[in-house]
Amino acid sequence: MDCVIRVRGLSKTYPGGHRALAGVDLDVRRGEIFALLGPNGAGKTTLIGILCGTVLPGPGRIWVDGCELPRDWRTARGKIGLVPQELATDAFERVLPAVRFSRALFGKPPDEAYLERLLRDLALWEKRNARILELSGGMKRRLLIAKALSHEPRILFLDEPTAGVDVELRRSLWAMVRGLRDKGVTVILTTHYIEEAEELADRIGILSGGRLLLVEEKGALLNRFGRQRLEIQLAEPIAAVPAPLAAFGLELRDQGRTLACTFSGREGHEQVPRLLRALFDCGLDFRNLRTRESTLEEIFVELVENGA
Ligand SMILES: Nc1ncnc2c1ncn2[C@@H]1O[C@H](COP(=O)(O)OP(=O)(O)OP(=O)(O)O)[C@@H](O)[C@H]1O
Ligand SMILES: [Mg+2]
Repeated sequence: MDCVIRVRGLSKTYPGGHRALAGVDLDVRRGEIFALLGPNGAGKTTLIGILCGTVLPGPGRIWVDGCELPRDWRTARGKIGLVPQELATDAFERVLPAVRFSRALFGKPPDEAYLERLLRDLALWEKRNARILELSGGMKRRLLIAKALSHEPRILFLDEPTAGVDVELRRSLWAMVRGLRDKGVTVILTTHYIEEAEELADRIGILSGGRLLLVEEKGALLNRFGRQRLEIQLAEPIAAVPAPLAAFGLELRDQGRTLACTFSGREGHEQVPRLLRALFDCGLDFRNLRTRESTLEEIFVELVENGA
């Protein structure tokens, strides 16, 4: 497998003694969108900082596109675009010159057409002559994205890219991130909007207390830990669950008017039609039927609470 990032046994203890990472092993595949999820203080920004060379690593080994860190830090950094979580930009700089400067910092030749396209994609072209202090919070965050992409990196780190960005623009950023992935850019993002991971990610890693609890394909994660809740409102109340339905683990609720059950993972896809046929065979008529699948958010909360 072609891994663009490889981390082995990485730990990090900050001066003062706080252990932010504890033995992390991680492989990020070339060209994927990898979402790193975890509660506040889990170590996500620390991990990104180490991979981007802005935080000193502790014990462990790290390779970024074949460059071993911290030794080959400079070469590795040139391949990386980083959108940091904190908004730290020079307030008096103007938008287009700031992005132009970021590109030059990485020794890339000028390419005004590329920068124009970038600012247009990020809905910042109209603001290209504005000073940064005149931008709204969401615009500042988009400017950080423009700066991170100014040197056409092959690996993009997005630490909370859409915090404070409105819903419409968030969707357009997602489309942009997918576009980058389609061009072969590897994207590693952290987010507290689980919907964002659900929409974007190919694979998901869950970090908690400095440990990587699991890494899985998004679909597999939803299948493995997801639940499907089914509720059947009966046309007439019944006194007990009929014997032929016993195997489905049904609960009788609402004074005999509702049958409910929960299936895990893919099981629901097979069990729901089977259950409906069995209901029919028992001569039970129903008025309404509701199913609900768990979201990534519910899975995430459960995993973090139980420490996987
Ligand atoms: N420079 C630092 N010095 C000391 N401790 C730090 C430093 N930076 C982070 N920490 C601590 O390391 C832990 C991990 O922080 P980190 O910023 O990596 O978390 P995070 O997962 O990005 O959280 P969030 O979701 O809030 O952004 C926290 O307990 C934090 O207080
Ligand atoms: Mg963070």
